[in-house]
Parts: sequence; C-alpha cells; structure tokens
Amino acid sequence: PTIYVVTATYKRPEQRAELTRLCNTLARVPAIHWLVVEDADSPSSLVADTIGNCGVLSYTHLYVATPEDEKLKSTEPYWWRPKGVRQRNLAFEWLRNDPSRTGVMYIADDDNTYDVRLFDEIRATRRVSVWPVAFAGGLLYEGIRCAHGRVLGWIVAFKPHRQFPLDMAGFAINLQLLHERPAAKLAYKVERGFQESLLLTSLGVRQSDLEARANDCSRILVWHTRTAPPKLNNVALLAERGLTLPPVIGH
Ligand code: UGA
Ligand code: MN
Repeated sequence: PTIYVVTATYKRPEQRAELTRLCNTLARVPAIHWLVVEDADSPSSLVADTIGNCGVLSYTHLYVATPEDEKLKSTEPYWWRPKGVRQRNLAFEWLRNDPSRTGVMYIADDDNTYDVRLFDEIRATRRVSVWPVAFAGGLLYEGIRCAHGRVLGWIVAFKPHRQFPLDMAGFAINLQLLHERPAAKLAYKVERGFQESLLLTSLGVRQSDLEARANDCSRILVWHTRTAPPKLNNVALLAERGLTLPPVIGH
C-alpha cells in the first residue's frame, strides 16, 4: 500500500532546512505520496522548489492559511494553541476526495526525526497502528505496554486520562477508516493534548483495535525533536558596517 505522508508547514527562517531534512528521509522510502500543506494564503516558491527538487517523486503541494484568530500570539507560549489543524483537515479532505483511494495515512510534522524503518511499520497498518514517540509528554518517551501486537496500557505522565495518550507522530491510519467516518477531523477548540484522542475516537477507534508495532512498542523509530530558532541578532551590526547580504537561493 501507498503511504500518504501529511506535513503541515509554515514560514520561518528554518523552514527550508526542516523540509530539506524531512525530504532527505522520505526520498529513501518507496511507495509514498507526500502531501505538503502550507500554512499560507498562496503557495510559496520556497516550498515548491524544496519539495520539487529533493528526490521525493510523488507529492502534492496544497495550501490553506490558519484563521487569524487561531494564530499564536507573540505573548502566548508555543504550546498554547493547536497547530496544523486546518492544514491537516485539508489533507484529510484531499484523501477522501477519491473514494477508491487506498493506503495508509501518517501525519509527519516537518521538525520531527524519522528512522526510515518506521515506514515499514506504517505500511503494515490494517486499521490503526501505534508505536512509542521519543521526547513526547515530558518524558524520554511516552511508553505503550504492548504484547503480541496488542496494546495493554499506557505508561505516560502528562494527562494520563487521555483516551489515547499518543503524540501525532505515534500512529498511522488506514484510509479505509477516513472513508468510513467522513466527519472525523481535527479542531481548534480542543484541550491541549487531546487532539490525537479526538481524531481517533471520532474515527471510532477503540484501544482493542490498535495494532502495536515497532517490536511490540519496544523500539524508538521517531523523535519529537524541536529545532532551536537560529540566531539572527547581528543583522544591525552588519548594516552598521555598511554591508547587506547578497540574495541567495533558498532565502
Ligand atoms: C506537538 C505535536 O507533535 C504536533 O503534532 C501537534 O500538532 C502540536 O503539538 C499541537 O499542539 O498542535 P509541536 O512540536 O509543539 O508539536 O508543534 P510544531 O512542530 O511547531 O507544529 C506542528 C506542525 O504544524 C509542524 O509541521 C508545523 O510546521 C505546522 N505548523 C505549526 C503550521 O502549519 N502552522 C503554524 O502556525 C505552526
Ligand atoms: Mn514539532
């Protein structure tokens, strides 16, 4: 089956670096289709150029802007609002648009780190598959107690009452489920940490349905890494020296 990799992405100085790194990973994975959804009013040439020239042959470049009142304010901490909601919902619509489309969907943020072997696990998804994600939930990893390919319980600290205490990077969904439940989507008005649970419960998933992957959840194949913002504090100093940077491709 084809893996549909859904990536929301937004403009900031490190965007091209993130997309390049993700693309370098995805270019090593056979039979994928990369759905890149820009958080923007119009598609940028930076994104088009990056995803179009890095070795992933099958991709679709979509775009939709986050509504103004849902954008993170400069006074709010980074975790305050859900991100990528509209962008991923647009990808779900695109996937549902062809009712005969088959395959597996995986939501891959542009800043995480993926072992290419994760995609072998994703591809085997019959309904919903799960595995542990490193650096999520305030732990080295959020644990899943698994045996014989089933999920027995969760070893988590952050809001352990979540129905599915998983990070977005910790599960994949067979497209059949998306077709069966056409109303299932993400939302802005959701308590922090509950987006994954909302999506899975609205798809009618129960814990007993989950397929435990990554060697019964004993292997880390994805890291919830976050990129430090680049230091750009010497722009004025350069100007004082009467210099400006010449234009470069990529920025
Ligand atoms: C965590 C989870 O890992 C995300 O899957 C979840 O969507 C997010 O929390 C959330 O709170 O909604 P975190 O690392 O805090 O992720 O979020 P980012 O990596 O900054 O953003 C998630 C994705 O949305 C990224 O692919 C990013 O490029 C995109 N994004 C972010 C936008 O499209 N627009 C934005 O304004 C911000
Ligand atoms: Mn992230």
